[in-house]
This record gives sequence, structure tokens and C-alpha cells, in this order.
Amino acid sequence: MNILVTYYSQTGNTRKVAEAIFSGIHHNQKTLLPIDEVDNLGNFDFIFCGFPVLHHGVPPAMNRFIKSIPLGKIIAIFATHASLRGGEKAITAFFEALSLAKGQTILGTFGCRGQVEFHLLDEWMEKPQERTWAIEAQSASGHPDTADLEDAQMFADLMLHSAEHSYPHGKTS
Ligand SMILES: Cc1cc2nc3c(=O)[nH]c(=O)nc-3n(C[C@H](O)[C@H](O)[C@H](O)COP(=O)(O)O)c2cc1C
Repeated sequence: MNILVTYYSQTGNTRKVAEAIFSGIHHNQKTLLPIDEVDNLGNFDFIFCGFPVLHHGVPPAMNRFIKSIPLGKIIAIFATHASLRGGEKAITAFFEALSLAKGQTILGTFGCRGQVEFHLLDEWMEKPQERTWAIEAQSASGHPDTADLEDAQMFADLMLHSAEHSYPHGKTS
């Protein structure tokens, strides 16, 4: 099985998780690429797609990318977000990502918190309508941390085991 780990990342949090996922794939045929360097999906069987949750949703570049994945491919979604795990401000983006895949198999999703740059937090704190959200986002400081990255590695391993059972052309290793 030929595996691609691709990601969109503005400040590096999602890239770190992508690297952890990549290192958790114990398989010879694997590629790690930022989304804007992917030019041919045809050769890949399994695609890990990662993004930061922005404005409760999937960033446009990743939205377009997921929609462009050919039918029949296996996908796993991962995202970083500043809100608490399972919180409303993150979970809507996972639902959105799941709804984008039509005809591909989404095998699983993984999310962990990712810190926001201090200058943005300061700006949000100043705006009364953003303050509650800013306090939540502030508590993501230091993420993704070692435990998040270990979880991401485990997610990769789990997805590959799962694919071994669901992928029609045989084992991944
Ligand atoms: C403009 C902007 C909007 C954001 N919107 C959300 C949001 O709606 N929900 C959330 O949980 N985090 C939100 N975040 C936080 C990012 O998802 C989080 O910091 C992420 O880890 C950034 O990943 P990156 O470093 O890969 O770009 C937002 C961050 C920015 C800069």
C-alpha cells in the first residue's frame, strides 16, 4: 500500500502532527508532503489529510483537496484546533471534512489541540465578543505536546491495522 501524509499548516502545529503520523507509519512506501506540493494522487492508496480548524471549518485549500481525491481511495483525517477536544468550535470542522468525501472511504479521524500565536490571542482578548473563545484558545498553549504526538503516532498505526482488514488488495506490510 502506498501512503501519502499531506497537510495544510499556517504556524506549524499541523505539520508537527503530520510528521508524527508519518513516523508512526511503519511501511516502506510512504510520502510526506505539504498540500501545495501534491501533484498526483493516482499512485496513492491511502491518504492522511491534515488541517488546522479555522473559523469552525476546514480551510479552503483542504476543502478543495479532499473533494479532488479520486473515488475508491482510503482517507484518514487529522486536525489541530485551539478549542477543547470534542468542543463545538472544533467538531463542526470534522463533520464538514467527513461530508466532503463522496465515494472515498474515511477510515478515521484524529484531533488534538494546537496553540495560537500570542499576538492573535491578545487581539481576541481585547474584543468582548471573542473573549470567551480567547480564554479557551489560550489554554491550548504548549500543544501539540509530546502526548499529542504520541497519540498521533498511535492513530497512524491504528489506521494502518484497520486498512489491512478493509483494503481489498491485501496487507499493508
Ligand atoms: C484565524 C484563525 C481562526 C481559528 N479558528 C479556530 C476555530 O474555529 N476553532 C478552533 O478550535 N481553533 C481555531 N483556530 C486555532 C487553530 O486551529 C490552531 O491554533 C491550529 O493548531 C493551527 O494550526 P497550524 O499551526 O497548523 O496552522 C484558529 C486560528 C486562527 C489563526
